[in-house]
Amino acid sequence: MASVQDVDQQLGCSEEGQAPEFFVPEVLGADHRVPLLSGAWVRQIFLDNAASTKPFRAVSTFLRDMEGYYSNIHRGTGFDSNFCTQRYEEAREIVKRFVGGDPERDIVIPVRNSTEGLNLLATSFDLQPEQIVLTTLLEHHSNDLPWRGKAAVRYVHLRPEDARLDLADLEAQLQAAQGRVRLVAVTGASNITGEVLPVHRVAELAHRHGAQVVIDAAQLAPHRSIDMRPHEDPGHLDFVVFSAHKMNSPYGEGAIVGRRDHFAEAVPYLQGGGTVYSVSLDHVVWADPPDRQEAGTPNVLGLFALGAAIRIYERIGLDRVAAHEAELTRCLLRGMHQIPGLAIFGRSDPEELDDRLGVVTFIVEDVPHQLAAAVLSYEHGIAVRSGCFCAHPLIKHLLGVSREEESSLEQKIRQGDRRFIPGAVRASIGLHNTAEDVERLLVALREIAARRWQGDYAQDVETGEFHPRGFRFDFRNCPAFPDGRPARR
Ligand code: ALA
Repeated sequence: MASVQDVDQQLGCSEEGQAPEFFVPEVLGADHRVPLLSGAWVRQIFLDNAASTKPFRAVSTFLRDMEGYYSNIHRGTGFDSNFCTQRYEEAREIVKRFVGGDPERDIVIPVRNSTEGLNLLATSFDLQPEQIVLTTLLEHHSNDLPWRGKAAVRYVHLRPEDARLDLADLEAQLQAAQGRVRLVAVTGASNITGEVLPVHRVAELAHRHGAQVVIDAAQLAPHRSIDMRPHEDPGHLDFVVFSAHKMNSPYGEGAIVGRRDHFAEAVPYLQGGGTVYSVSLDHVVWADPPDRQEAGTPNVLGLFALGAAIRIYERIGLDRVAAHEAELTRCLLRGMHQIPGLAIFGRSDPEELDDRLGVVTFIVEDVPHQLAAAVLSYEHGIAVRSGCFCAHPLIKHLLGVSREEESSLEQKIRQGDRRFIPGAVRASIGLHNTAEDVERLLVALREIAARRWQGDYAQDVETGEFHPRGFRFDFRNCPAFPDGRPARR
């Protein structure tokens, strides 16, 4: 019967107590071939890991083994339901340990992703309009929009010289608010500049002023080890939220890890089956957490997958993950500095990578970001992302977009014209990437910066995307939905 330990065996590293050599677990689709505009096929270079990562083969295999047992949890009396319930609770413990949650005082609430986790948290606080949520200019929209309208949201500035969080400004804002800051909600690492935030220092300052701390760890969790620290520690993290799809486990899962005492008081985010002990026509006795926050049938297989992915990350060791990434990021930044016309957002010193992820966001002089990204894909087989990366305020800040420019852009967008949306190109390194991948990106960027490409590109007014005239990717030989006939065994 499948267990999370089987994942270790599939990786060939199951001997307990023995430090594994650095290994790169197999990542599905890491090296499949893709077509180019020229008609050639090349190995795809997947450098869009900050958006989503491709699945570990071992996670996929584990899920296949578990599918036959799939059953609802916490409800059924059958063998399969009991088995799935046990594994589900095991996975919850794996998640909690992964971020150093307190065995008793913290709980794990499975959610769809970080966005849902942060929305759930924002609802759970019963925030008042006179209270303040302090967040930062570095945030993904998921750690900004859910707080708006529930409290006064204020933004901690970035240092102008390097776009790092200005801790002095955080402290000044906490002091000026005179105890009205209820929460400090910060990202663990920026999805644009790759900056890793000093979350324990942020927590110390917040706690000193009576606020609790929420960490959006969507970008941090796959790259650095997280330790929430004991509740008595001034640098303790009260709530940590992260997503499985950025951890080679793209099956629709995420988690909140945080204070049991908070959730014991909080109203359920969603209300329905599983959240109650008793319902009458005129009253409800809500269940204790975490059940109270887990309405409806959860994504059982998603949590199994997250548990399995975490086992793999732990087996590799987050220090090794960080070292691998730093090595490739160093090569990438060194190479990019040699290319005229490239400007990198945030810190770009290849020798200072301790607090920086392998997320490299840049613009190419005189080449629209959407066009640069299209050429990378159609002519070099390199997958990146371009645009604002769900962090419009940060991109506008980094690009120096004025209020007037913003208004004029918004007017165009309302009229259906998205061609002039400001943005950048982002290459983000994952576990499976190699020095050869970085070299191929650098070769391609040299060509683009020299304005050398083959296609005749046209921009779509409605989407802002560029496509080569007369060419579209052909998906006919890619998997299609089954036609309903019995599957081949
Ligand atoms: N949050 C993801 C990104 O940064 C989707 O691209």
